[in-house]
Amino acid sequence: MGKRPDVRIAVLGAGRMGAEHISTLSFNIKNAVVSHVVDLDMSRAIDVADPIEGAVATSDIDAAIAEADAVVIAAPEERHRLLIEKALAADTPMLCEKPLATTIEDCLAIVEAERALGKRLISIGFMRRFDPGYRALRQMIADGTDGPALMIHNSHRNVQNQWDTTADQIRYLPVHEFDAIRWLAGEEIVRVTAVTGKQSQDKPPELDDPIFIVCRTASGIIADIEMYSSAKYGYEVRCEVVCDSGTASLDGSSRSAHAPAVLADPQLRLDVGRDWRDRFSNAYRLELQAWVTSVREPESGFSQLASAYDGYASLLVAQACIESLESGKPVEVHPQPPAL
Ligand SMILES: NC(=O)c1ccc[n+]([C@@H]2O[C@H](COP(=O)([O-])OP(=O)(O)OC[C@H]3O[C@@H](n4cnc5c(N)ncnc54)[C@H](O)[C@@H]3O)[C@@H](O)[C@H]2O)c1
Repeated sequence: MGKRPDVRIAVLGAGRMGAEHISTLSFNIKNAVVSHVVDLDMSRAIDVADPIEGAVATSDIDAAIAEADAVVIAAPEERHRLLIEKALAADTPMLCEKPLATTIEDCLAIVEAERALGKRLISIGFMRRFDPGYRALRQMIADGTDGPALMIHNSHRNVQNQWDTTADQIRYLPVHEFDAIRWLAGEEIVRVTAVTGKQSQDKPPELDDPIFIVCRTASGIIADIEMYSSAKYGYEVRCEVVCDSGTASLDGSSRSAHAPAVLADPQLRLDVGRDWRDRFSNAYRLELQAWVTSVREPESGFSQLASAYDGYASLLVAQACIESLESGKPVEVHPQPPAL
């Protein structure tokens, strides 16, 4: 068999996430070229395409999908369903940023549309699955040398709250943790309770921040998530897995050279970056490489990447958290496994 050609990729949405993926795909990924930089804001598309050799800047979504071998969807959340359906109609593999879509109905429609095609075209950008630290935690659970996992503690802190509503905040931020918990535990989250209490002084007045979430998985693992979007001091993601006779954790620090100090005492300083792109650049790279390899060599499968079903299941947990926050009660979660 001759050498397979590089995968020509159209990136739909050239904002913060899209520009990051375009740069990684162009300079750090084997066998991939960015063929189209697509944005409804043409000046944005031109700016981002400028340093990328051979990339066309365009606002013509349909033409870009038709001409490329694969697409990355990095447009705003509410555009995902439409763009996914366009790529499905063109039989084009895609990596769609989280969340899969903004409603459970949309997620189910997407899962069903892909299933009807009878082949895997959709992967979701849950990049914690590629972060070396998260992979080590998962390996620890899978090895079982410290006994079964009992608890998983998570924190997700952002510098500044940028959300319009509490519901959006829950759908778009801890959705990463919902997927990570399902993936680490190897089972579904079946019940959630979300509470809020004393509020950050700097949050937008119309929404809750911080929010504390407690999840229970099918076998009874308790996983908590502190979601704090107005943390000011830095961007910090933590995860600790407590097994029966051992524990392991990610410390959440990044390698940023200009990090502020978390603690005032210089002896106790822990440097934390301010940008999510620094913390997860390695995970984005490993995720994109795995996806490009799977597109180029379909026989290798897409099994490392989150699927449309994972996108649906994680949004279902988010929706249950929104309900729990409103009702003040625990909410059961019943994901429907995809029909065979
Ligand atoms: N995985 C992660 O860690 C991570 C981090 C940040 C954002 N995201 C996700 O990435 C996606 C984009 O977020 P962002 O922060 O880059 O947003 P952004 O607002 O910075 O950029 C979105 C871009 O998409 C363009 N756009 C809007 N509609 C479009 C369409 N129909 N077709 C093509 N382009 C369109 C906009 O003009 C804008 O330039 C969201 O789904 C978000 O949740 C993921």
